[in-house]
Amino acid sequence: MSNLERTLSIIKPDAVERNLENEIKKMFIENGFKIIKEKKIQIEKSEAETFYKVHETKPFYNDLCAYLSSGPIVVMILEKENAVLGNRDLMGATNPKDAKDGTIRKKYGISIDKNSVHGSDSVENAKIEIDFFFRD
Ligand code: CMP
Repeated sequence: MSNLERTLSIIKPDAVERNLENEIKKMFIENGFKIIKEKKIQIEKSEAETFYKVHETKPFYNDLCAYLSSGPIVVMILEKENAVLGNRDLMGATNPKDAKDGTIRKKYGISIDKNSVHGSDSVENAKIEIDFFFRD
């Protein structure tokens, strides 16, 4: 049965800074994702705090929010059959050290913080995250 989904992807500051935007987008397209909407923006730390609110009790929360707001990012709505899981597979493990060959984080990630991309972790969060960046 068809299960067309949308998910939110972010190309993080470490990857934008290294001019990896087009290479990462190419990986999405080659893996069957359609980029429905995209924009390059820089967000305030307070916006990052709202976006990552699920992590607010974690010890890395402050650094994470400072990092996401430290430079330009590219936010995209990706569409594909089972896009949420498919994107997580293509990104690879959160820590690039654990990511499998052929994944974005294995190829481009520097560290658990500078792991080049973010992707929604569930269909429910994808809706919330897409609305956060593209509600207009
Ligand atoms: P992301 O998928 O954007 O979601 C939250 C981010 O927190 C994660 O990627 C990592 O970059 C970052 N992070 C930093 N430390 C940790 C940690 N110990 N466990 C999970 N995520 C972490």
